Amino acid sequence: MSTNHSTDYENFLDRQDETAWARALEEIAPAIHEVERNATRVWFAFFPLALARALQTSDDPEGLARKLLMQGNYRLEDQIDSSHKFLYGHRHWRAVKDATTERADSFANGATTLADEIRAVARRAAEGARVDESLLVGIAAVALMTVAQVGLAKFRASPGEVKVGGRFARQSPAQVLRERARDDSQGLMGFLRTTDKRWTVVWNENDESARFQMIDSQEIASAAPNDERDWSQIDPRCTVGEGPIPVQCRSASCGTCWVGVLGGAEKLSPVAERERKVMHLMGYIETDEPRPLIRLSCQAQGRGAVSVVVPPWNGVFGKFLRAQASGGDGGQAAESAATAGEGA
Ligand code: FES
Repeated sequence: MSTNHSTDYENFLDRQDETAWARALEEIAPAIHEVERNATRVWFAFFPLALARALQTSDDPEGLARKLLMQGNYRLEDQIDSSHKFLYGHRHWRAVKDATTERADSFANGATTLADEIRAVARRAAEGARVDESLLVGIAAVALMTVAQVGLAKFRASPGEVKVGGRFARQSPAQVLRERARDDSQGLMGFLRTTDKRWTVVWNENDESARFQMIDSQEIASAAPNDERDWSQIDPRCTVGEGPIPVQCRSASCGTCWVGVLGGAEKLSPVAERERKVMHLMGYIETDEPRPLIRLSCQAQGRGAVSVVVPPWNGVFGKFLRAQASGGDGGQAAESAATAGEGA
């Protein structure tokens, strides 16, 4: 390992701000395989750089997290090998991790860009894993962002475990895409059904049991209790009897129930004004898209089968980050986060 090269690599990543990352993601987007496109965007929404840096540079990170009403596991350093287990490329995480550290150890400061570095890691990892490069571009971007947020030492120290096993580990990208696109058969007389249609919500594509039924036009979170198991042991934000998606208000106020949509976003109801306003307030997503990839599951109604992923945390940080970005008083914005959340 070369310390100078590694330090240069960390410094290079440190210099990349939110705008540089947004530009790089836009540049690499056409090179990302279809199976990874949504998942990559969802991951970057789940682990925003500006929030990670605000916590890192705070004199009192735990106090700031409390002020931003953060619940659950928001620390990327605690989930270096698992935060991206919903990406197809996670199957090749070890190769991506090795390619990233190799790149860091031979990094030459020069005319390189973030997009170039992501592609270089994806190319090297694809050679190691003997898969198409397009499958690893998204997770290569995730790897570099992880280094940017946790540092190379912690990144190197993680064991590089792959969390997908059994038949899921062997699935081809085409199979995953086919499963995402499949809608539930409504039976022989299905064409006569109207509101009693039933759709499957998959909330972990790599677990056969991680799915529940939703009736037509039902909100995803309202259907989640159909999975009757006790998820509070796995995610303490979950309440017994409420299913695998944490919920609190059920009225687009608290932001607890946000989910990422891997497949079927077009089958969900369009975002209503209140849902859009609350997602902006929370800091989850800024978009005018009628059916974005981040939704409040207590508002999004299903009109077909969908595949979603539940982030491991929730919080109210939009106002705080906007105040920081404009050079204002992020602290004051944090103080008012709770009030703003209640008044959404
Ligand atoms: S449960 Fe509060 S916003 Fe959905």
